[in-house]
Amino acid sequence: MCESAAVAERILVVGSGGREHALAVALARSPGSPAIHCAPGNPGIAEIATTHAVAVDDHAGLVRLATEQRVGLVVVGPEAPLVAGLVDEMAAAGIAAFGPTAAAARLEGSKAFAKEVMASAGVPAAASVAVTTVQEGVAAVDQMGFPIAIKADGLASGKGVVVAMRRAEAIEAIEACLADRRFGAAGDTVLIEEGLVGPEVSLLAVCDGTRVVRFPAARDYKPIGDGNTGPNTGGMGSVSPIPDVPDALADELVEQVHRPVVAEMARRGTPFTGVLYAGLMMTVDGPRVLEFNTRFGDPETQALLPRVDGDLAGLLEAAAHGELPDAPFAISDDPAVAVVLASEGYPAAPVTGDPIEGLAEAGRIADVYHAGTAPGEDGGVVTAGGRVLAVSARGASVADARAAAYRAADAIRFRGMQRRSDIAAGIDGAAS
Ligand code: AMP
Ligand code: GLY
Repeated sequence: MCESAAVAERILVVGSGGREHALAVALARSPGSPAIHCAPGNPGIAEIATTHAVAVDDHAGLVRLATEQRVGLVVVGPEAPLVAGLVDEMAAAGIAAFGPTAAAARLEGSKAFAKEVMASAGVPAAASVAVTTVQEGVAAVDQMGFPIAIKADGLASGKGVVVAMRRAEAIEAIEACLADRRFGAAGDTVLIEEGLVGPEVSLLAVCDGTRVVRFPAARDYKPIGDGNTGPNTGGMGSVSPIPDVPDALADELVEQVHRPVVAEMARRGTPFTGVLYAGLMMTVDGPRVLEFNTRFGDPETQALLPRVDGDLAGLLEAAAHGELPDAPFAISDDPAVAVVLASEGYPAAPVTGDPIEGLAEAGRIADVYHAGTAPGEDGGVVTAGGRVLAVSARGASVADARAAAYRAADAIRFRGMQRRSDIAAGIDGAAS
């Protein structure tokens, strides 16, 4: 009999978005066919998993749920519970959880901390200074020039970064953090960072404290409008792979970024386990890290996990136990494209409560991941958030995947629906 890591028969996914729906689907498809539980989940997740009404910030409730359901593995989706120590609490209760401890999640929870780790590890990052007063901030702006990025140090639900072209705009962003305290304590330290230009890349890797297994590179589309116009959102779509970051380059980036950071975190006595997601800008001077996330990306996950042919549950469980194999993980060559369908008014003021039609029809063409949905009165589903759904398709080429994703998206209707029409356009011959 061959030895193998424990195989969880029951897995608890924590979260309620499109990322968690994609995780639940991919985990359920793993060879051991684990039963998936999710807290709190959403109507889409409830179709394939048992959902439980426990909020992501109710750590004691989640530990109790994991214990009662005898889950072999907890997979934490969002950053807030990671930064707040949910994985530590699970560990204290003897429950294996995939994700970083609070100490390791500081790589996402504090941009200044991430900079310090990168400096120690020799990882190329955008040059920056951390300030705590408006006066220091203004002085830094006057030294650096434009464009310039102003960043709240802590978690700000993706709203803490302003890239300013003018002095007044930069100062306004600094004052919003340090004077108006728009982000509370998360904005009490502000990073003033040189503005860089170049294509952006999301490179995610599963880490077990010492080893690193990467996914293929992905790209998300942050602005609300076609041609990258309008305000930034949580992400309006994603594609993987991307032709400008082939596997050989992704391997090099992991050597330059992920491995040194994982080694540095281990050296500090706070080993990193979980997904280390590097947000990179490929500048003319080489790659630069813009930020780390310590979890799966949303919506990158919706374009990465449909490509997984390997045992995702086994991979995450091995990582949680510090036993990642050195072997590469089986990912299909087939690209995948995810198109986000957002509600009217998103990102400023999403309008919710509108009935969604066409889900079954779309589901026959592509994966339809729920993000902001809720049960409607008549057994249907209504919009319940800014990003409502992500429609994701795999194909023999980016063009095929893109066409299928948009065909499925065309089947879905709700009042005021917004979507970009150029996700993955122009890649690999895909028509724009
Ligand atoms: P972040 O949350 O740090 O990834 O920032 C959000 C977005 O702001 C990034 O995806 C970039 O598009 C942009 N951004 C962040 N830092 C910089 C920078 N130093 N120069 C130019 N754009 C940036
Ligand atoms: N796609 C950006 C994020 O997950 O933060």
